[in-house]
Amino acid sequence: MLPTLEWTEDGVRLLDQRRLPQTVEYRLCRTYTEVAEAIRAMVVRGAPAIGVTAAMGVALGARAALRQGETGERLRASFDRVCDTLFQTRPTAVNLVWGLERMRRLFNAELASNDPARLEARLVAEAQAIYAEDIAINRRLGANGAPLMPDSGRVLTHCNAGALATAGFGTALGVIRAAIAAGKQLEVFADETRPFLQGARLTVWELQQDGIPTRLITDNMAGHFLHCGAIQAVVVGADRIAANGDTANKIGTYSVAVLAHENQVPFYVAAPLSTLDLSLESGAGIPLEERAPEEVTHLHGVLIAPAGIPACNPAFDVTPHRYISAIITEAGVARPPFSESLRALGGAAAQIKLPQAKIKTGSPV
Ligand code: MRU
Repeated sequence: MLPTLEWTEDGVRLLDQRRLPQTVEYRLCRTYTEVAEAIRAMVVRGAPAIGVTAAMGVALGARAALRQGETGERLRASFDRVCDTLFQTRPTAVNLVWGLERMRRLFNAELASNDPARLEARLVAEAQAIYAEDIAINRRLGANGAPLMPDSGRVLTHCNAGALATAGFGTALGVIRAAIAAGKQLEVFADETRPFLQGARLTVWELQQDGIPTRLITDNMAGHFLHCGAIQAVVVGADRIAANGDTANKIGTYSVAVLAHENQVPFYVAAPLSTLDLSLESGAGIPLEERAPEEVTHLHGVLIAPAGIPACNPAFDVTPHRYISAIITEAGVARPPFSESLRALGGAAAQIKLPQAKIKTGSPV
């Protein structure tokens, strides 16, 4: 798989996901504002990928301020501005907040040392560590989820929760990859995911690259295939999971979950612990992004509806926890009642030893 994103000395290099699958093209973001714009415009997307990219954006922004000789309160003000700009890009994926907070903790701990070279190196190393950990987390999550997949049959997924939505390997697609690596005979049914077509453009592309049997379906076919027994399990990613298990994910996930429940097909959510927002009791508090109506009225820039027709474009919906069979994380599998199992996993997370990331920083730290 091609890298979704990477840190380079010149900036953050992003695979432009708006152009896939027709064109494989990378964009180099040299400043934190370019990183913010790339997140907003969906050059990079998917909750974990956004979190990692935002952390790298912070490293870029802080590095620029440090190299301009900023110190003390002036440096802190610049740091806050960088975090705030990145925070404003997309509201639903809590991984973005998580990535920013992790960078802020390091900044606060290191600021007093008054050593600009060390602070810069530490921030860059932290962003790279977040990147490497994300891949390790996904591999662990995949191993935890693989036993839940059927030994053979079809698994439906919605949107793209794959390598492209993370630093690598994927969450929902990571579970499928791990199950196939363990010898299970799976075929993936991928919803096209209107209006941005993450399923049609991204999921089937990355699965095709891996040689995983995959069929593309339109979103409105999911109910039919669930009803006629063609699908043995559903696995999707998440952008934010509340303490009771209510899960925000790509618009259309809720419909799939209800249809899976109606047809007694297990519905799994796969997400790292950084997607949990235990400060929210339920999904009612999750901010849902509304995107431009042109994403609905146009396809590849071509108007497909009467000119001037108003359109709605909520980018996410919330699936109530009662429709979710299990939530798969790197710390284990949470089962209902999620208000208990998620808290227990959140606590266990601190005990997990992830493989040490091999990071080349060229820094003394
Ligand atoms: O708008 P997007 O493409 O960023 O939405 C992505 C999703 O909804 C994914 O399912 C979710 O972020 C999980 S990605 C591992």
